[in-house]
Amino acid sequence: MHLKIRILVGTMTGTAQLCAQEMELALDDGETQVETLMMDNLDSSVFSGEGVFLICTSTYGQGDVPDNARALYEDLKARRPNLSRVRYGVFGLGDRTYAETFNFGGKRFDELLGELGARRIGERVQHDAASGVLPEEMATEWGEGWIALAKEAAEAGVS
Ligand SMILES: Cc1cc2nc3c(=O)[nH]c(=O)nc-3n(C[C@H](O)[C@H](O)[C@H](O)COP(=O)(O)O)c2cc1C
Repeated sequence: MHLKIRILVGTMTGTAQLCAQEMELALDDGETQVETLMMDNLDSSVFSGEGVFLICTSTYGQGDVPDNARALYEDLKARRPNLSRVRYGVFGLGDRTYAETFNFGGKRFDELLGELGARRIGERVQHDAASGVLPEEMATEWGEGWIALAKEAAEAGVS
């Protein structure tokens, strides 16, 4: 079954972008089409497009979304579009050294999309920069399982 995935990248120093690129390489097999978009200059209208979305974002400041994700996040909060047709996943990046705000970038998007009616596919995953696990390896491994769930959801006609 043909499936289109859009990976939306929030990043400060490029790690989330690397994860997205590796996932695109691993998961785009022609039948599943994967497109990576940096969040810069996106607004909530991106969610009116077809397909399933994968939020791939790190965390900065005191548990904030990265600067390039701020406009999209704030636009969603201000406009509050009905996203009940949207399915999404979250690959979050953070560092457990920031114990109080670990992975809050992905968490914030997850909570907001949920509030707006979007339905998550699978669990929100949290990479920990302090763990020694390579983020791009975790992303591709996790992505394979997530794509399988996304396909199941699409085949069940609920995407
Ligand atoms: C100044 C600064 C603040 C950060 N704040 C947090 C935070 O509040 N919570 C968290 O989980 N990680 C935090 N991190 C860790 C980053 O999210 C993590 O290193 C991530 O892998 C960076 O990904 P990026 O290169 O895509 O931006 C912070 C990192 C820096 C340098």
